[in-house]
Formats: sequence, structure tokens, C-alpha cells
Amino acid sequence: MEFIKVTEQYQPAIALIQLNRPKELNALNPQLMGEVRDALQQLDKNDEVKVIIITGNDQAFAAGADIKQMADKSAIDMQIMDQFSTWDQIRKTKKPIIAAVSGFALGGGCEFVMTCDMVIASETAKFGQPEIKIGTIPGAGGTQRLTKAVGKAKAMELILTGRFLSAQEAHFYGLVNKVVPVEMYMHKAVELAKEIAQMSPVAVQLAKEAINRSFETQLDEGLMFERKNFYLTFASEDQKEGMKAFIEKRKPVFKGK
Ligand code: HXC
Repeated sequence: MEFIKVTEQYQPAIALIQLNRPKELNALNPQLMGEVRDALQQLDKNDEVKVIIITGNDQAFAAGADIKQMADKSAIDMQIMDQFSTWDQIRKTKKPIIAAVSGFALGGGCEFVMTCDMVIASETAKFGQPEIKIGTIPGAGGTQRLTKAVGKAKAMELILTGRFLSAQEAHFYGLVNKVVPVEMYMHKAVELAKEIAQMSPVAVQLAKEAINRSFETQLDEGLMFERKNFYLTFASEDQKEGMKAFIEKRKPVFKGK
């Protein structure tokens, strides 16, 4: 791995992927995203891992796609490169992903954050889709996910002006779960990951899958999908254990089965 660092057991049950192109503010290129995809596929198969945290460094989560690598490409080069099939595979990760964001999360960096499931931000985090300022538009889901996250009027403003959102504003608009001082964002991300890691991994994955469906379907179909996943939890030992433990007034012991 050239552009990321992976720690499979960063904490018990919690894996960490750190984007690692600090000189370029973690600008994303197809190789980096391919490495992230490979790491996520590996972590999805590792039973010891329950939750994945993705982070950058204090200065930048990622300042967007690598403009220097993209600048001279033709439309056909971009089409043939088909970089977004990697993003589609990332989106299919079964385990929950928390983005721990400090500094810049711009363009593809903001889109990457929105591809994750939850976001803990430092007070210094800045989110934005500034592509318009370099004559292009978001390409990795920004027009869709930002609009769903913050509503049409704000998404139009952000994408058409390229303005940044502060961490506090991003929190106000529901783009991030929590904002904390910069020295705390990894700690808070781990705290959230630990809480989720205590749950039945079967139920966690079925819930994640059902929530993500709400972005892809109409209500009727989404409700049907949720119902089937709800029924499916009843095929797990964890559901039996969880409900039995409640009745017996004790803590459940989940096995991921
Ligand atoms: C390539 C980048 C980069 C990027 C920063 N760098 N962002 N290189 N691609 N997206 C490099 C700079 O060239 C510089 O290297 C070094 O990182 C530090 O950046 P500075 O600009 O000197 O830092 P600063 O003055 O603090 O400004 C930070 C910044 C600015 C506001 C984040 O770098 C900036 O505006 N970056 C571009 C943001 C952007 O437009 N993102 C959207 C990209 S398009 P050198 O060696 O030159 O000193 C996109 C499309 C998504 O994301 C499509 C899906 C993947």
C-alpha cells in the first residue's frame, strides 16, 4: 500500500485506514482509491473487525481528486479510466465505516466522507464541493448525496459557489454526527466505533444495508427491504441471545452468527 496505512486491530474489533499523501493534502487518485477498496474488502472478510474508521491527518481528510493528474485528461480518458467503479465497490462495504475528519474535506474528499456511514469532525474541518471553481462539477456523488444530506437550496449554494461549510455548519445541516476539538476527533470516532462493535454484527450489517436502501428506492420498496432484513435477524443466534438477555435482565453476548 503506497498511499494508505491500514491497521487491522487499531483497537479491539476496530480497524483504521489512514489516507497518507500528506504533502498533497491527501489528494485522491485512482491508485489511492483502489488501495482503499482493497483494504475494505479485506477488512469485510476479517471476523475480528466490526467497525472501520477512515481518517486523514489533522490538516486534511482529503482536498479532493488529484487535480494535477486530472488536468490534461480528455472526456474519453476519464470514461475509459472508469474510476468510479472503485467507488461503487467501496459503497458496497458491509461493515460500518466512520469517517474521522479534520481539516479539508473538499471535492472528492467531501464525497468520500459522504460515502462513509457516520462522520466525526474536528472543529477545524471544512467541507465543500469547490469543483465549480476549476470548471467542473462533483463526479463521485456530490450532487446527489450532498443534496440528500443538506437539502436542495443549500446544496445548490455550495456546489454553484464552491463555498466551504465549517464543521459547525456541517453539523447543523446533518452532514456530520459530532464536532469536537481537534485533539478529540479520533478519540470520539473510536468511542462511537466501540459502542457499535458491542452490538450483533449481523444486525449491524442488516441495518446498514436497509438504511442505505433508503437512498436508492422509493418508500414502498425500502420498507419491504427493511422488513425482510428485520425478519432475517430472527435467523441469527444473536437475536435469540439479545432478546433472551433482555428478559433475563443481563448483558447479551453476541457471536456474529
Ligand atoms: C492535487 C493538491 C490538491 C488537489 C492541494 N494540493 N489540493 N494537489 N490535487 N486536489 C496540493 C497543492 O498543489 C500543494 O502542493 C499542496 O497540496 C498544499 O496545498 P496548498 O494549496 O499550498 O495549501 P493551502 O494554501 O493551505 O490551500 C489548501 C486548499 C487548496 C484550500 C485545500 O489546496 C485547494 O483549493 N485545493 C484544491 C481543492 C479542490 O478544488 N478540490 C476539488 C478537486 S476536483 P504543491 O506541491 O503545489 O505546493 C474533485 C473532483 C471529484 O475533487 C471527482 C471525484 C473523485
